[in-house]
Amino acid sequence: MVREIAIGDVAATSLVTLYCHAIETQSADPILYDPKSVEVTARLNSILSHSDDPLERMLVESTLDPMLVVHIAIRAKKYDQYVLEFLAQSPHGVVVNIGCGLDSRFLRTDNGTVHFYDLDLPEVIDIKKQFFAETDRYHLIASSVLDEGWMSVVSSHTGPFLFMAEGVFMYLEAEAVKSLVLTLQKRFPGSELVCEMVNSIWVRKPLKTIVEHKMRRRLHLGKDAAFRSGIRHSREMEEWHQGIQLLDDWSYFDSGEKKLGWLKIFSRIGLFRYSQWTVHYLLR
Ligand SMILES: C[S@@+](CC[C@H](N)C(=O)[O-])C[C@H]1O[C@@H](n2cnc3c(N)ncnc32)[C@H](O)[C@@H]1O
Repeated sequence: MVREIAIGDVAATSLVTLYCHAIETQSADPILYDPKSVEVTARLNSILSHSDDPLERMLVESTLDPMLVVHIAIRAKKYDQYVLEFLAQSPHGVVVNIGCGLDSRFLRTDNGTVHFYDLDLPEVIDIKKQFFAETDRYHLIASSVLDEGWMSVVSSHTGPFLFMAEGVFMYLEAEAVKSLVLTLQKRFPGSELVCEMVNSIWVRKPLKTIVEHKMRRRLHLGKDAAFRSGIRHSREMEEWHQGIQLLDDWSYFDSGEKKLGWLKIFSRIGLFRYSQWTVHYLLR
Protein backbone atom coordinates (compact mmCIF):
# COMPACT_ATOMS: atom_id res chain seq x y z
CA MET A 1 0.00 0.00 0.00
CA VAL A 2 1.38 3.41 -0.96
CA ARG A 3 0.47 6.59 0.90
CA GLU A 4 0.15 9.41 -1.62
CA ILE A 5 1.02 12.08 0.93
CA ALA A 6 4.38 11.21 2.42
CA ILE A 7 3.82 11.65 6.14
CA GLY A 8 4.31 9.45 9.18
CA ASP A 9 1.63 7.65 11.14
CA VAL A 10 1.21 10.31 13.86
CA ALA A 11 1.22 13.17 11.35
CA ALA A 12 -1.45 11.31 9.34
CA THR A 13 -3.87 11.79 12.24
CA SER A 14 -4.04 15.44 11.11
CA LEU A 15 -5.73 14.29 7.89
CA VAL A 16 -8.39 12.49 9.93
CA THR A 17 -9.33 15.57 11.97
CA LEU A 18 -9.26 17.78 8.85
CA TYR A 19 -11.69 15.49 7.03
CA CYS A 20 -13.90 15.32 10.14
CA HIS A 21 -14.16 19.12 10.06
CA ALA A 22 -15.03 19.11 6.36
CA ILE A 23 -17.70 16.41 6.73
CA GLU A 24 -19.30 18.15 9.71
CA THR A 25 -19.21 21.58 8.03
CA GLN A 26 -21.21 20.17 5.11
CA SER A 27 -23.70 18.33 7.33
CA ALA A 28 -27.16 19.51 8.35
CA ASP A 29 -26.98 21.86 11.34
CA PRO A 30 -23.17 21.68 11.65
CA ILE A 31 -21.54 21.77 15.07
CA LEU A 32 -18.50 23.46 13.53
CA TYR A 33 -18.33 25.80 10.54
CA ASP A 34 -14.92 25.38 8.96
CA PRO A 35 -15.10 26.27 5.24
CA LYS A 36 -11.31 26.15 4.91
CA SER A 37 -11.38 22.41 5.69
CA VAL A 38 -13.83 21.92 2.81
CA GLU A 39 -11.52 23.79 0.46
CA VAL A 40 -8.41 21.91 1.59
CA THR A 41 -10.01 18.45 1.47
CA ALA A 42 -11.41 19.13 -2.02
CA ARG A 43 -7.88 19.86 -3.22
CA LEU A 44 -6.38 16.92 -1.34
CA ASN A 45 -9.01 14.58 -2.80
CA SER A 46 -7.63 15.13 -6.29
CA ILE A 47 -4.24 13.89 -5.03
CA LEU A 48 -5.53 11.10 -2.79
CA SER A 49 -8.12 9.69 -5.17
CA HIS A 50 -5.41 7.51 -6.78
CA SER A 51 -4.09 6.22 -3.47
CA ASP A 52 -4.48 2.60 -2.41
CA ASP A 53 -3.62 3.41 1.21
CA PRO A 54 -6.66 2.32 3.28
CA LEU A 55 -6.63 5.48 5.43
CA GLU A 56 -6.54 7.74 2.40
CA ARG A 57 -9.26 5.70 0.66
CA MET A 58 -11.45 6.05 3.74
CA LEU A 59 -10.93 9.84 3.70
CA VAL A 60 -11.63 10.28 -0.01
CA GLU A 61 -14.66 8.01 0.12
CA SER A 62 -15.94 9.85 3.21
CA THR A 63 -16.48 6.67 5.21
CA LEU A 64 -15.17 8.00 8.54
CA ASP A 65 -17.13 6.90 11.60
CA PRO A 66 -19.92 9.53 11.98
CA MET A 67 -19.51 9.53 15.77
CA LEU A 68 -15.80 10.33 15.41
CA VAL A 69 -16.76 13.26 13.16
CA VAL A 70 -19.14 14.56 15.84
CA HIS A 71 -16.53 14.22 18.61
CA ILE A 72 -13.80 15.97 16.63
CA ALA A 73 -16.18 18.81 15.70
CA ILE A 74 -17.32 19.28 19.31
CA ARG A 75 -13.69 19.43 20.43
CA ALA A 76 -12.65 21.94 17.76
CA LYS A 77 -15.59 24.17 18.61
CA LYS A 78 -14.64 24.08 22.30
CA TYR A 79 -10.98 24.87 21.57
CA ASP A 80 -12.15 27.81 19.43
CA GLN A 81 -14.09 28.99 22.47
CA TYR A 82 -10.99 28.75 24.66
CA VAL A 83 -9.19 31.04 22.19
CA LEU A 84 -12.09 33.49 21.98
CA GLU A 85 -12.37 33.67 25.78
CA PHE A 86 -8.61 34.21 26.09
CA LEU A 87 -8.71 36.97 23.45
CA ALA A 88 -11.70 38.62 25.11
CA GLN A 89 -9.44 39.10 28.17
CA SER A 90 -6.22 39.72 26.21
CA PRO A 91 -7.00 41.02 22.70
CA HIS A 92 -3.30 41.35 21.87
CA GLY A 93 -2.45 37.95 23.30
CA VAL A 94 -0.35 35.21 21.71
CA VAL A 95 -1.83 31.80 20.88
CA VAL A 96 0.38 28.80 20.19
CA ASN A 97 -1.51 25.90 18.65
CA ILE A 98 0.76 22.92 19.38
CA GLY A 99 0.25 20.02 16.96
CA CYS A 100 -2.06 22.23 14.90
CA GLY A 101 -2.35 19.75 12.04
CA LEU A 102 -4.17 21.21 9.02
CA ASP A 103 -6.68 23.03 11.18
CA SER A 104 -7.69 26.65 10.46
CA ARG A 105 -8.36 27.87 13.98
CA PHE A 106 -6.68 31.19 13.27
CA LEU A 107 -9.23 31.94 10.52
CA ARG A 108 -12.10 31.03 12.84
CA THR A 109 -10.93 33.08 15.81
CA ASP A 110 -8.89 36.00 14.45
CA ASN A 111 -9.83 39.19 16.30
CA GLY A 112 -7.55 41.39 14.19
CA THR A 113 -4.86 41.77 16.87
CA VAL A 114 -3.88 38.26 18.04
CA HIS A 115 -0.48 36.80 17.21
CA PHE A 116 -1.16 33.20 16.31
CA TYR A 117 1.46 30.46 15.93
CA ASP A 118 0.60 27.11 14.35
CA LEU A 119 3.24 24.55 15.28
CA ASP A 120 3.56 21.00 13.96
CA LEU A 121 6.09 18.52 12.63
CA PRO A 122 7.87 19.71 9.44
CA GLU A 123 6.08 17.10 7.30
CA VAL A 124 2.70 18.57 8.32
CA ILE A 125 3.75 22.21 7.99
CA ASP A 126 5.08 21.44 4.47
CA ILE A 127 1.53 20.47 3.48
CA LYS A 128 -0.03 23.29 5.44
CA LYS A 129 2.08 25.90 3.63
CA GLN A 130 0.39 24.90 0.37
CA PHE A 131 -2.96 26.03 1.74
CA PHE A 132 -2.26 28.69 4.36
CA ALA A 133 -0.34 31.94 3.91
CA GLU A 134 1.64 33.41 6.80
CA THR A 135 1.05 37.06 7.69
CA ASP A 136 2.56 39.48 10.19
CA ARG A 137 0.22 37.96 12.83
CA TYR A 138 -0.13 34.36 11.62
CA HIS A 139 2.95 32.18 11.73
CA LEU A 140 3.77 28.55 10.95
CA ILE A 141 6.48 26.80 12.94
CA ALA A 142 7.87 23.55 11.50
CA SER A 143 9.24 21.80 14.55
CA SER A 144 8.59 19.07 17.02
CA VAL A 145 7.13 20.67 20.13
CA LEU A 146 9.87 18.82 21.99
CA ASP A 147 12.68 20.76 20.24
CA GLU A 148 12.59 23.81 22.45
CA GLY A 149 14.05 26.21 19.86
CA TRP A 150 10.52 27.30 18.91
CA MET A 151 10.09 28.83 22.36
CA SER A 152 12.68 31.49 21.57
CA VAL A 153 10.67 32.53 18.50
CA VAL A 154 7.48 32.86 20.51
CA SER A 155 9.15 34.59 23.44
CA SER A 156 9.93 37.59 21.22
CA HIS A 157 6.43 38.62 22.37
CA THR A 158 5.62 39.74 25.88
CA GLY A 159 2.38 37.75 25.98
CA PRO A 160 0.01 36.92 27.55
CA PHE A 161 0.30 33.43 26.10
CA LEU A 162 -2.21 30.65 25.51
CA PHE A 163 -0.71 27.27 24.64
CA MET A 164 -3.09 24.65 23.36
CA ALA A 165 -2.63 21.04 22.33
CA GLU A 166 -5.75 19.47 20.86
CA GLY A 167 -5.37 15.73 20.38
CA VAL A 168 -1.57 15.78 20.65
CA PHE A 169 -0.06 14.99 24.06
CA MET A 170 -1.34 11.39 24.10
CA TYR A 171 1.03 10.62 21.20
CA LEU A 172 4.08 11.76 23.22
CA GLU A 173 5.91 9.85 25.95
CA ALA A 174 4.84 10.71 29.50
CA GLU A 175 8.27 12.07 30.46
CA ALA A 176 8.29 14.31 27.37
CA VAL A 177 4.88 15.78 28.22
CA LYS A 178 5.92 16.45 31.80
CA SER A 179 9.20 18.04 30.79
CA LEU A 180 7.42 20.22 28.18
CA VAL A 181 4.79 21.46 30.64
CA LEU A 182 7.42 22.24 33.26
CA THR A 183 9.48 24.15 30.70
CA LEU A 184 6.44 26.18 29.61
CA GLN A 185 5.71 26.96 33.26
CA LYS A 186 9.29 28.12 33.81
CA ARG A 187 9.70 30.12 30.59
CA PHE A 188 6.20 31.60 30.26
CA PRO A 189 4.98 32.49 33.76
CA GLY A 190 1.37 33.70 33.72
CA SER A 191 0.51 31.69 30.61
CA GLU A 192 -2.42 29.35 30.16
CA LEU A 193 -2.29 25.77 28.92
CA VAL A 194 -5.25 23.93 27.42
CA CYS A 195 -4.53 20.33 26.48
CA GLU A 196 -6.39 17.16 25.80
CA MET A 197 -5.31 14.14 27.80
CA VAL A 198 -6.31 10.51 27.86
CA ASN A 199 -6.76 8.53 31.02
CA SER A 200 -3.59 6.57 31.71
CA ILE A 201 -5.64 3.38 32.08
CA TRP A 202 -6.02 3.45 28.26
CA VAL A 203 -2.26 3.50 27.83
CA ARG A 204 -1.76 0.21 29.67
CA LYS A 205 -2.99 -3.27 28.88
CA PRO A 206 -5.68 -4.56 28.68
CA LEU A 207 -7.47 -1.31 27.62
CA LYS A 208 -4.53 -0.29 25.41
CA THR A 209 -5.51 -3.20 23.14
CA ILE A 210 -8.95 -1.65 22.53
CA VAL A 211 -7.37 1.70 21.55
CA GLU A 212 -4.94 -0.02 19.20
CA HIS A 213 -7.76 -1.98 17.59
CA LYS A 214 -9.66 1.26 16.97
CA MET A 215 -6.60 3.00 15.54
CA ARG A 216 -5.59 0.15 13.22
CA ARG A 217 -8.82 -1.57 12.20
CA ARG A 218 -11.30 1.27 12.22
CA LEU A 219 -9.08 4.23 11.30
CA HIS A 220 -6.39 2.38 9.33
CA LEU A 221 -3.69 4.37 11.14
CA GLY A 222 -0.16 2.95 11.22
CA LYS A 223 1.41 1.47 14.34
CA ASP A 224 3.28 4.64 15.36
CA ALA A 225 -0.05 6.41 15.90
CA ALA A 226 -0.38 5.03 19.41
CA PHE A 227 -1.36 6.53 22.76
CA ARG A 228 1.79 6.70 24.88
CA SER A 229 0.85 8.84 27.86
CA GLY A 230 -2.04 9.94 30.02
CA ILE A 231 -3.06 11.19 33.44
CA ARG A 232 -5.44 9.73 35.99
CA HIS A 233 -7.25 12.91 37.03
CA SER A 234 -7.38 16.63 36.19
CA ARG A 235 -5.27 17.72 39.17
CA GLU A 236 -2.39 15.39 38.35
CA MET A 237 -0.28 18.10 36.71
CA GLU A 238 -0.62 20.26 39.84
CA GLU A 239 1.46 17.59 41.57
CA TRP A 240 4.31 18.24 39.11
CA HIS A 241 4.94 21.81 40.33
CA GLN A 242 3.32 24.32 42.67
CA GLY A 243 3.20 26.82 39.80
CA ILE A 244 0.67 24.69 37.90
CA GLN A 245 -2.93 25.48 38.84
CA LEU A 246 -6.00 23.77 37.44
CA LEU A 247 -8.55 26.31 36.18
CA ASP A 248 -11.16 23.93 34.79
CA ASP A 249 -11.65 20.77 32.84
CA TRP A 250 -14.00 19.83 30.02
CA SER A 251 -15.39 16.67 28.53
CA TYR A 252 -17.21 16.09 25.24
CA PHE A 253 -20.32 15.28 27.24
CA ASP A 254 -20.34 18.79 28.75
CA SER A 255 -21.28 20.13 25.32
CA GLY A 256 -24.78 18.63 25.61
CA GLU A 257 -24.54 18.30 21.83
CA LYS A 258 -27.64 16.60 20.47
CA LYS A 259 -25.64 14.78 17.79
CA LEU A 260 -24.02 12.75 20.60
CA GLY A 261 -27.39 10.99 20.84
CA TRP A 262 -27.55 8.10 23.31
CA LEU A 263 -23.87 8.55 24.25
CA LYS A 264 -24.98 11.46 26.44
CA ILE A 265 -26.12 8.91 29.05
CA PHE A 266 -22.44 8.29 29.84
CA SER A 267 -21.87 11.91 30.90
CA ARG A 268 -22.23 11.22 34.62
CA ILE A 269 -20.05 8.11 34.65
CA GLY A 270 -16.49 9.12 35.60
CA LEU A 271 -14.84 6.34 33.61
CA PHE A 272 -16.34 7.74 30.41
CA ARG A 273 -16.23 11.44 31.30
CA TYR A 274 -12.54 11.17 32.12
CA SER A 275 -11.60 8.78 29.37
CA GLN A 276 -10.32 11.47 27.00
CA TRP A 277 -10.85 15.01 28.20
CA THR A 278 -9.37 18.51 28.34
CA VAL A 279 -7.58 20.24 31.19
CA HIS A 280 -7.01 23.98 31.45
CA TYR A 281 -4.18 25.22 33.66
CA LEU A 282 -2.65 28.49 34.71
CA LEU A 283 1.16 28.27 34.66
CA ARG A 284 2.44 30.70 37.32
C1 LIG B 1 -4.80 14.19 15.96
S1 LIG B 1 -3.83 15.39 15.13
C2 LIG B 1 -4.57 16.85 15.77
C3 LIG B 1 -4.41 18.01 14.86
C4 LIG B 1 -5.16 19.29 15.30
N1 LIG B 1 -4.78 19.71 16.62
C5 LIG B 1 -6.64 19.06 15.23
O1 LIG B 1 -7.25 18.81 16.26
O2 LIG B 1 -7.16 19.09 14.12
C6 LIG B 1 -2.29 15.31 16.08
C7 LIG B 1 -1.24 16.28 15.57
O3 LIG B 1 -0.17 16.30 16.50
C8 LIG B 1 1.01 16.46 15.75
N2 LIG B 1 2.17 16.05 16.54
C9 LIG B 1 2.44 14.82 17.04
N3 LIG B 1 3.63 14.81 17.66
C10 LIG B 1 4.11 16.08 17.58
C11 LIG B 1 5.30 16.71 18.03
N4 LIG B 1 6.24 16.04 18.71
N5 LIG B 1 5.46 18.02 17.77
C12 LIG B 1 4.53 18.72 17.09
N6 LIG B 1 3.38 18.17 16.63
C13 LIG B 1 3.18 16.87 16.87
C14 LIG B 1 0.77 15.57 14.55
O4 LIG B 1 1.68 15.80 13.50
C15 LIG B 1 -0.67 15.91 14.21
O5 LIG B 1 -0.77 16.99 13.34
